[in-house]
Order: sequence, then structure tokens, then C-alpha cells
Amino acid sequence: MSQQIIEELLSKLSIEEKVKILVGIGDTTSSQLARVPGAAGQTHPIERLNIPGFVLADGPAGVRIENPACRTTAFPVEVMLASTWNPELVEQVGKAMGEEARICGVDVLLAPALNIHRHPLGGRNFEYFSEDPLLSGKIASAYVRGVQSAGVGACIKHFVGNEQETGRWGLDTYVSERALREIYLRPFEIAVKEAKPWSVMSAYNKINGVHCSENEWLLTRVLREEWGFDGFVMTDWGAGEDVARQINAGNDVIMPGGQDKLEQVLKAVNEGKIPIETIDRAVARVLSKLLGSAGYKSTPGKPDLEAHAKIAYEAAVEGMVLLKNQGALPIDRGKKIAFFGVGQILTVKGGMGSGHTHPPYVSTILDAARGRSLAIDEELAKKYAEALSTYKEELEIFYRDEPDKPSVSEDVVGEADIYASAQRNDLAVIVITRVSGEGWDLAPEDFYLRDDEKWLIDTVSEAYRRIGKPVVAILNIGTPIDVASWREKVDAILLAWQPGQEAGRAIIDTLLGLVNPSGKLPTTFPKTLGDVPSWTFGGEPADIPKSVTYEEDIYVGYRYYDTFGKEPAYEFGYGLSYTTFSYSDLSIEQDSEQVKVKFRVTNTGKMPGKEVAQVYVKPPKGKIDKPQKELKAFKKTRLLQPGEHQDIVLTIGYKDMASFNGKEWILEKGAYKILVGSSSRRIHLEGEFRLPEEKTFRN
Ligand code: BGC
Repeated sequence: MSQQIIEELLSKLSIEEKVKILVGIGDTTSSQLARVPGAAGQTHPIERLNIPGFVLADGPAGVRIENPACRTTAFPVEVMLASTWNPELVEQVGKAMGEEARICGVDVLLAPALNIHRHPLGGRNFEYFSEDPLLSGKIASAYVRGVQSAGVGACIKHFVGNEQETGRWGLDTYVSERALREIYLRPFEIAVKEAKPWSVMSAYNKINGVHCSENEWLLTRVLREEWGFDGFVMTDWGAGEDVARQINAGNDVIMPGGQDKLEQVLKAVNEGKIPIETIDRAVARVLSKLLGSAGYKSTPGKPDLEAHAKIAYEAAVEGMVLLKNQGALPIDRGKKIAFFGVGQILTVKGGMGSGHTHPPYVSTILDAARGRSLAIDEELAKKYAEALSTYKEELEIFYRDEPDKPSVSEDVVGEADIYASAQRNDLAVIVITRVSGEGWDLAPEDFYLRDDEKWLIDTVSEAYRRIGKPVVAILNIGTPIDVASWREKVDAILLAWQPGQEAGRAIIDTLLGLVNPSGKLPTTFPKTLGDVPSWTFGGEPADIPKSVTYEEDIYVGYRYYDTFGKEPAYEFGYGLSYTTFSYSDLSIEQDSEQVKVKFRVTNTGKMPGKEVAQVYVKPPKGKIDKPQKELKAFKKTRLLQPGEHQDIVLTIGYKDMASFNGKEWILEKGAYKILVGSSSRRIHLEGEFRLPEEKTFRN
């Protein structure tokens, strides 16, 4: 929107009207002004000047609105999008969501979320991408580009340090500036610089003593002055304490707002606590982005749900991570399959809270198996259907709305059923599910298998493998769980995450080898919770946590496991395929700005497949402690036919390898190793470059 139009509007708007643009209408479910049913928030319209009420709707797994006339698609949760390691595909997902938002009248999608997987028990891990800032930032940038290509805005959230739900409203997160800048701020920085999101949502928590929404250092110094952000900042819903401190700090919009907040801001303006220039600045930021939105201008229509279901399916199949496979997969079409676990019917599409979705349907594992005319054990399937029929109402809500999974124990079938089924089937597939959501973190019991789940795996494993029949486990979960204690009891494990509405179809087609799994872990699967470095997770005091200190500093996820020699169950970047790949022809060139890494990936197996090639940098020993290695670049190949290769060229800027020493970014002199691998621990090529002199960089 042109500067001139904004200035003209500013000259015509009264103070009350300006404040109305900066404060939401409050609860959108009860307000007469609400334009889109089920959207999370809206600003006040100023009809006199043709300024609409701008509509903001969640994200990140789809556009969360409740309008029967404008249905929307449920895509895979963010951790699964990150598992694709495929920015081009994620951009298509973003574009589909952006189009749905626009057609349904939404101006800003409250997504993606860029917090870091600091601990496997994080309640919202499913709607965050990764433990690694580069992967998070690159995937987020693609997502934002996609959404905004449709003419509506994206809102990256929750800025910053919102890595747990316990005590989230005012939790004081203590973290060193180095860890903040290298780990927690970094994905936001990448997304702001590479994708220019229209907006940023400040987080509920405090950072080092100051509420994020009232934090001038964060919202003005870092975000705008250092990174050049030119959009507007909104609060998370109900965050912070003082509207004057918020707006003065650079937090332009108060959400969800309401009459109280409106009055508080007006009072603060009238008392001189918020200068009118600051109000004008905030209004200008909001209007310069939102007046250009295609959302409020769009004529009501229907999104192309069929085309978007295909994109949701693609993203789901590319996000599947094959953790283990001792010849059990892919399954031959004619084989007789016994399905175990309530998740075959209660297939989990996504997580709970603001990130849930209302798709037109959810493809369950059992339905999809039937859809592919597989020889499933109908006797067992009937038992599951009968056991679950008591939960009819909950089930309907489960599929349609929030995935608040009825907790059904896994003793639906007995030992005799399992042993009898082993006689008449060729293999067993066990589905293990978990649901988590906004507002609470998981408990250690959620990480480990429950007794009924252990019993099911033990009994099926014993009954089938004793007579040479394989057992496959499907993990339909949103954050890592224990696998180390039971993985020897199964022949294959497919990590299916929470794949959105196409869940069942994507899972079954992967089991059958109709698609070749190509996802890689965006987050480490530790052996036990005791191994996780972020031991302060949850905060203190334990009963009502008020603060949390990120004691592990920069050593989050694989940065810790690799540096301190702790072996995970499955490492960051790991994932198998039904084919094999070789790596060759490494060459490294350097100039004054960057290092260029070239290598070749060849499909050496029998099936077409895609590989995610990862480049890690291992620094020399210097003055500053650094992780043993860090991901600095990655590339997913195209679908390679057997025997086919792809030459890959990746560049890494020196600045992106530097460490923050409290004042500036430093890259010490010495010999740096370039490690090219198929995971953080499976390194296939090794090279080196030298830096004769130390380099320093400003922000
Ligand atoms: C969540 C945000 C969400 C907002 C609006 C908050 O509780 O933390 O992620 O966008 O609600 O629904």
C-alpha cells in the first residue's frame, strides 16, 4: 500500500478509530462484527473510511475456521512438514492454505510457528518444526512464501522462547544471548530475511525478565533494526500485562482485544503514556500490509479441496520417516494383514488447541487399507469397531473437531485372539498413537509406552515372530516417544507423525511401497528422558513454575548428543528408504564470502526414491566452545530412478557458521571439516576448508 494513501488515512482517522485498528474485537464467537465464523480474531472495521475488520485465523496445520460454506483442508502438522526436508513442497502446502484463507475471507494465517523442540515433552512440539534452527527457518520461509503468494499474510509465532506450555502465560525464560541468537531467534531471523512475513506474534512468556510483547529489545532492536522487519507485531491471545508498554515496545496490535483493552489503550494515549506518533506508526504498519490483503476483498467461493487434498497427501507421504526395516516393508499387495491398536480407527490427524483443524473428512488407516482392497483380518477389525462403538459421540468430535482422543485401552483383543490371528495372517501391523496440544506439556508417562501398549506389542511380537511372521509398528504421534525399549520386538517401524486428513491413505501407500519413504527426523529420538539435555524443562518451582532457565545453552538436540557423546535411539536427520543411495565426488571451493560444496548422490538400489543430503560443519578447537557439528545446508534430491544420480551444489556463507560472543559474530581461523551425510551421524563424505584469519560480523 502506498505511503501516500496511508498518510491520507492517518490524517482522516480520529484517535479512537486509530486505536480500534490496533485492538481486536475480542471474542470472535460472540461479536456481531465477526466476519468469518470460527476465526481466532479480528480488528475493528472503520466503515466511514472503508477500512474492513481484518480477520486472523489459525494455523499451522490448515486454516482453522468453522464455516460450513467454506471448508478447509487439514495438512500434516509442522513437525511432519519439516520431516519432508522439502521447501518446494512446503511452499505448495503454504500456497494451498493461503488460497483457502483468501477464498474464505481470512487476511492473516496465524502460522507458521517457529519455536524449537527443546524437549520431547513439549506440548506443542507437533506444531513446531525442529530442534534445529536452520531447518526450522528454511521450512518456515517456504511456508510463508507459499501463504503470501496467495495474497494474504503469514504471521510467524511465538516470538520467542515459547518452548513449553507449563506456566506459559508469564513464564520467565532465562536464556543466554548467545543461545537466543544462535538457536531460538535464528529461525525467525531466517524467515524474516528470506520470506518477509507480514506479521510476527509475540509470545506469552517473558525473556530474561521482560514479557515478549513488552520487550523493546526484541521487537524493535532485534526484529526491526537488526533484521529489517517491516510488518506489524501482534500479541499472542491475551499476552502481557500493560498495553502502553506493549505498543511502545513495538507490539502494534493487541489480540484478541475487546472493550477493556480498547479503553486501556485510549486511556494510555490520553494520559500521554503512548505518544500519538507511536500510535500512528503502529497504524501505518498494520494498514500498509493489511489494506493490500486479498482476503477481505475476495468474493465468497469454495477452495479447490480436491487439489489441496492431493498436496496434503504429497506432504504426508514425504514426511513419513522409516525408522527401522528388516525386510518387512514394503508389504506385498496379496499378503493377509492383521491390524492391531485403536489407532487404526482413531487415526490422529493433528494436535489440539488453536492448531487443530476442521477438515471435511479424515482418512483412517483401516478405511484406507480397505480402499486399497487389502486382505485385512476382518474378524479383528470387527472387534475394534465394536469396542469403539461405545464412543460414537466422542469419535465424531474426534474426527470433525479437536482430536481429543477417547482414551481406550489396548486390551480390545485378548491373547487368544492374537495367537489365533497369527495362524491366519501373514503379518501384523500395530498402531501406536499419541495426542498432545496447546496449554499443557506431556508427562514422562506419555513418553514411555503404557502397560496395555507394552502388552500388545509383547503379545503380538511373540505370537507372530515365533512362527516367522513379521510385525510392523506405526507411530502416529506428534513428538518423540520411547522406541529404544521395544524396537527389537518389531521388524519395522514407520514414523507417520500426525499426517492431516490424508493420514490413512498416506500410511497405507507407504506400507505398500506405492511411495518410497523419504522423510528424515527433524528432531532427535532420545533413548530415555534422562538423556535429554534440557533437564530444566517444566521450570520451577515445580508445582507452579514461574521461570525456566535454558541451562543447556546452545547444546540443544543433536548439538548436545554429538558433542557430549550420548547415543540417541535415532539421530537427527535419520530416515531409511526402500532403496539405497551412494555419495561421491565431493569438492569444496571457497571465496571471500562463502564456501561452495559439490557432491553427487546416486540411487544404487532397485526402487525410485528421494534422498535428503545434509551438510554439517565441524569447527576447529578455538577460543569459543562450539557444537561438535552443526547443520549448515541440505538438499532433497528429485525422484531418482535406480542408477540415476543428481549433482548437488550448496553454498554456506561464513557468517552462517559464526558464533555470537555476546557482542558480535566470530568465525575463528583454522581448519573446518565439511561432513556430507544422510543423517547427523551417517557421514559419507568428508572434506575441509581453511580460514587463515578470524572473521567478525555485525548483525
Ligand atoms: C495460541 C496461538 C494462537 C492464538 C489464537 C493462542 O492461545 O498460543 O498460537 O494463534 O491463541 O488462536
